[in-house]
Parts: sequence; C-alpha cells; structure tokens
Amino acid sequence: MNVWNDRQIIQDQIEYYRARANEYDEWFYRQGRFDRGTANNQHWFAEVAVVQQALQQVGKVDRILELACGTGIWTQELLTLGNQITAIDASTEVLEINRHKLGASSQVIYQQRDLFTWEPEQQYDLVFFSFWLSHVPPQRLTAFLQTVANALQADGKLFIIDSRFEPTSTANNHVLVDDGNLIKTRKLNDGKEFQIVKKFYQPDELQQELRAIDIDADVKVTERYFIYAIGERSNANA
Ligand SMILES: C[S@@+](CC[C@H](N)C(=O)[O-])C[C@H]1O[C@@H](n2cnc3c(N)ncnc32)[C@H](O)[C@@H]1O
Repeated sequence: MNVWNDRQIIQDQIEYYRARANEYDEWFYRQGRFDRGTANNQHWFAEVAVVQQALQQVGKVDRILELACGTGIWTQELLTLGNQITAIDASTEVLEINRHKLGASSQVIYQQRDLFTWEPEQQYDLVFFSFWLSHVPPQRLTAFLQTVANALQADGKLFIIDSRFEPTSTANNHVLVDDGNLIKTRKLNDGKEFQIVKKFYQPDELQQELRAIDIDADVKVTERYFIYAIGERSNANA
C-alpha cells in the first residue's frame, strides 16, 4: 500500500462499514456467516468476558472518548463506567444503530467524523477504541496515536481492543491468510466486496508503538481471539 492509494482505502473502509451497518453485529454475536460452531463460539464469548472484565478494572471515570464506536457493542459497556461518552464514527448508519441500542441516552454525545482528519476538542479521562487500530494504515499510525495522546488528560487512561490473527474470527467465506498483505477483501451478506486494511498487532509491537507517544501500556492477549491494552501517560504518576 503506498501513500497514493491510502486515501482510497480509507474511503473504501468508510463505505464498507456504512453498507455493513445492519449486519455488523452478526460478527460479534457469532451469527450467520460468523457462526463457527458451538465450541468456537463458546471460546469467543469466554474471551469477550475476559476483555470485559479487564475494562471494568479501569473503574468509574467522568468523561470517555470512544473512537470508531460502531453500533454500540462497547459503548454500552462504557456507559457502566463513565458519566459522559463522546462517541465518534464516520458512518451515520452505525451511529444511528448505536443511538437506538443505547436508548438515546443523554449521557452519549455522537459525532460523525473521519478520524484521519479529526482533532480532539477536549481531553478525556478514558480514551477507548475497539477493532479500529487494525484498520489504521501503518503510515498513518503514529499521527493517529499522537492525536489520541492529545485527547488524554494527564492522568487519563487508554484502552484498546483488537483482533488476533485467528481464521475462525472472521466470516466463513473470508479467507484469512498470513501473507503479509495488509489489504484484505471483505464481503457483505449479499456478496458485495470491499477492500480494507487489517493489521494484526503483536503485543510487543503495540507496546512499542504506544511507548513512542509516551504511553506506558500493559498489552495482553486472550487465548485465540483478542489483543487488548491498557495504558497511561508515562509521566502520569510523576
Ligand atoms: C470494526 S468496526 C468497530 C466498531 C466498534 N468499535 C466495535 O468494536 O464494534 C470499525 C468502525 O470504524 C468506523 N470507521 C471506518 N473508517 C473510519 C474513519 N475513517 N473515521 C471514523 N470511523 C471510521 C466504521 O464505521 C466502523 O464503525
């Protein structure tokens, strides 16, 4: 992927998630093409529970920023932690589903933004994003993470969740090959295809990327499916 086609992929990703909005939750809840059988599904949900518990360990905070919030699968978790959530996504379609799922909670402020042009308007006690970092083109990673760091209060926390490379995590008609190509083809239920970026981070690698923006992070993996990080500014306790 070169810089020339980077903007095209970013736009394609936005279009993909807009078109997928109504079927997105099938992935997380292991339905339809994402149903990989009882044993795999049980593994998935047990590992989701591990990550949910880790998120709860952050404890109560006042203001949360959720980037690429999607349909609200994690926004509803964040609502148990924070007084106010700013939830940002590029897709009006997913924002509408999120708003509906959360009962139009007055505690959530929705903003439609492209995260590659967005700048934070304030600082937050917790910045959270799930299954988003893997879609950031590597040449944009440092700039994106620096913007994230700018959105954090001095003692604010960062929580990231993403995918591990595991073929049963995706749809049964997606072929997940470890060929080093970060551009992947994704299909909708109707067969329509899109190109997206998908980078699978290793814990050491993610820890180093966060160190580069002065975030000390504890990065963990679940047995098969997830990588997650909890971080704070390296001078937070100074
Ligand atoms: C894999 S989904 C993750 C959604 C949610 N965080 C979750 O865990 O279910 C990626 C999300 O990123 C959003 N997105 C894609 N490109 C974006 C961009 N350039 N700026 C903001 N959001 C974007 C999509 O609309 C989609 O909701």
